[in-house]
Amino acid sequence: TERTFVMVKPDGVQRGLVSDILDRFENRGLKIVGAKFMRLDRELAEAHYAEHEDKEFFEGLVDFITSGPVFAMVLDGQDATRQVRRMMGATDPAEAEPGTIRGDFGLDLGRNVIHGSDHEDEGANAREIELFFDDDELVDWDKIDGSWLYE
Ligand code: GTP
Ligand code: MG
Repeated sequence: TERTFVMVKPDGVQRGLVSDILDRFENRGLKIVGAKFMRLDRELAEAHYAEHEDKEFFEGLVDFITSGPVFAMVLDGQDATRQVRRMMGATDPAEAEPGTIRGDFGLDLGRNVIHGSDHEDEGANAREIELFFDDDELVDWDKIDGSWLYE
């Protein structure tokens, strides 16, 4: 299995979507190994979105992601990074399939409810987990249904 970083953005928190989103991941069999309710400062936000620092939407993106609390988590599961991205749907909620998180809860590119590490960016996971969590904030544990989830 692998670990992936996921974050309900300020719009998702304000709209009360944290429990519904967490429900979807737990129901899928993903294991929570870390979770934190927090507010990003600008430094963390800029580091997190460093790949976009030259884009015209960068300022607005940092303003938005620091505008209120987020729910950050680390999930563990088979092919977790790619599966979480599939469950999130396309970056632009207007293009995201119904049934995905963005497709069910969003309408606008700049308010797309959730972030997940990019599975096409090798190392994004490890980098983001380290950026947001200390080692002692991650819990290594066995889920009792493991043998019923995986062959
Ligand atoms: P994240 O999980 O948030 O990283 O989304 P993503 O990986 O699906 O998309 P990407 O990393 O390419 O973009 C990061 C975020 O910037 C997106 O989630 C959008 O909210 C925002 N964004 C991306 N492209 C645009 C754009 O063209 N205009 C605006 N306003 N925002 C954008
Ligand atoms: Mg991204």
